Amino acid sequence: MSSREKIVRLLRAHPGEYLSGQEISTSLKISRAAVWKHVEHLRAAGFEIAARRAQGYCLRSLPDLLLADDIMRDLATKVVGREIDCLKQLSSTNLIAREAAAAGAPEGLVVLADSQSAGRGRLGRNWTSPEGVNLYASVLLRPQLSPLDAPQLTFLSAVATAEVLDEVCGLNARVKWPNDVLVNGRKIAGLLNELGAETEQIHFLVLGIGLNVNMSADQFPADLRYPATSVMLETGTTQARLPLVRALLRRIDELYHDLLAEGFGPLRRRWEARFDLLDRQVEVDQGQQIITGVVAGLDTDGALRLFLPDGRSERILAGDLRPVGR
Ligand code: BTN
Repeated sequence: MSSREKIVRLLRAHPGEYLSGQEISTSLKISRAAVWKHVEHLRAAGFEIAARRAQGYCLRSLPDLLLADDIMRDLATKVVGREIDCLKQLSSTNLIAREAAAAGAPEGLVVLADSQSAGRGRLGRNWTSPEGVNLYASVLLRPQLSPLDAPQLTFLSAVATAEVLDEVCGLNARVKWPNDVLVNGRKIAGLLNELGAETEQIHFLVLGIGLNVNMSADQFPADLRYPATSVMLETGTTQARLPLVRALLRRIDELYHDLLAEGFGPLRRRWEARFDLLDRQVEVDQGQQIITGVVAGLDTDGALRLFLPDGRSERILAGDLRPVGR
């Protein structure tokens, strides 16, 4: 632990109290000048630290940091978050979680980053990941399911994210097949699940969740393919990320155990309750072709079932879905 982290820990252990520079310097075995320098750095990083002559320092507020200790405290999940890695900057939380999975990391590991330099989206796209404003999270699971059922876990992250947005932020989040979460028709979260499996056995599944929390309009790339939004843009106020990430991990844990115990049915119904395109005329853009039809629902493996204009029913495994008309 760095001296700066130790100072924060000391001040946090004495809420509302002033700790003298001498006490801190004795406890950390550094000079009082060094304590003062660290306090200045912490202030620059967003910590509000009051200083009084002859009394010392008092921590007034913390920046919106994600620290593993804070996330894990009384989290009370069965599996998700039993190990948490929070990093300031990395390439992609999914990539790091996959590497950890291949090296034998336990089920329930969560990798979080304050920013990503190579955030990955679906279909090889980028995921814009500015520092300190959003959630970039990957959850490692090792479900005893057939690899054919792995797509069910995408619906799990969508339901968890949408339900938590409603409960913590007071939004009315909707889902879009296969893996978007929308608020007022704009994408607020994207989900990218990555699978490590053999024909008959899942070795690991990484649930990647990118949730736009305090992103401002000018932080979105100008050439986005879809309208996008954030919690702050929808509610008009900034949202602390800590309660959001804790609620999200708890909900993923709960839905995961329900899925393993009860199968896909209950999860599918929760997802369908937030899906506005059932029975609607849609187009699915698959790059090389566009398929048109009426949405009949989800299959047990998460494929979208469409009624085609000629009366046949078709299973859709991938593509960008959009409503037609109305
Ligand atoms: C999409 O294209 O909609 C999926 C975006 C998924 C982004 C998240 S951010 C956390 C995790 N790490 C990544 O590199 N991607 C996912």
